[in-house]
Amino acid sequence: MQWLTEYREDVPRVERFNLTARITHWGHTVTFLLCLFTGLVLFLNGVDWLAAIFGGYRGAGLIHRISAVAMTLFLIYGAVFGMRGLAAWIMDLFRFGVNDIIFLVLFPFELLGFKVPVWPQTRFNGGEKMNSIITPMSVLLLMLSGYIMWFPSVFPAWLVGIAYPTHDLAMIFATFMVCIHGYLGSFHPGSGESFWGMWKGTVRADWAEHHHKVWYDETYGEKAKKKE
Ligand code: HEM
Ligand code: HEM
Repeated sequence: MQWLTEYREDVPRVERFNLTARITHWGHTVTFLLCLFTGLVLFLNGVDWLAAIFGGYRGAGLIHRISAVAMTLFLIYGAVFGMRGLAAWIMDLFRFGVNDIIFLVLFPFELLGFKVPVWPQTRFNGGEKMNSIITPMSVLLLMLSGYIMWFPSVFPAWLVGIAYPTHDLAMIFATFMVCIHGYLGSFHPGSGESFWGMWKGTVRADWAEHHHKVWYDETYGEKAKKKE
């Protein structure tokens, strides 16, 4: 059984994510997951087996802080060296419109196995636009509350008090989103090709045209040729 969509080199491919975006995404993913599993050691009771992986409860606390700093550095790296990509990403979110709403209505049917048309989408589809807002917001809350919890003497007591429930709630939100996102960005048959865009940088041109028609036309298709 094949889990991932086959990577085809014998067909035309187009660039989807540059190296900076890919380094930022995967660096962030690894450090986020390390924060999550070490955080769960601190959050849940009776998970000695999980604590043992990180050298006990103290070890988990230490790895949590090291991963948190590494995660912050990956995001700073992405924002500084990928400034243009970041701006283009934000601009695309403002293009949320009727096509995205139709996509979001149809998508659950696709997940249930029905054959539904893919409505013309910009660079990020309706679901990715939602993910692009909810997940980074949760991560931002995790970072802000995390540093407040780390250095409580620097902040007023009421802020430290709300930082704990904020950190826990943001963790639950972000984890829920990442579970759905991770599946859609890898094993899901319809969108699995997107994995190669984030791993190797390119996706099949026919897949790009089918899944992100507006973006494909503007970047590689007729509209892009007219602009040249
Ligand atoms: C810059 C990012 C982050 C910083 C600075 C940070 C910092 C902290 C600190 C200082 C603690 C308390 C540790 C202790 O009691 O020894 C903590 C706990 C925790 N962190 Fe983070 N963290 C960050 C990101 C994350 C992420 C990404 C997740 C999960 C997705 C996460 C999940 C947790 C959980 C579940 C706890 C336990 C909270 C509790 O006991 O109620 N953290 N974090
Ligand atoms: C668990 C493994 C993960 C996989 C397999 C994965 C896969 C992917 C893929 C393939 C894309 C590109 C989608 C496209 O073509 O537009 C992407 C984008 C993105 N990823 Fe991940 N990712 C993972 C983890 C994470 C984590 C942990 C976060 C943040 C906490 C994250 C946040 C994002 C965001 C914000 C985007 C851009 C918006 C979107 O496409 O939904 N990813 N990811």
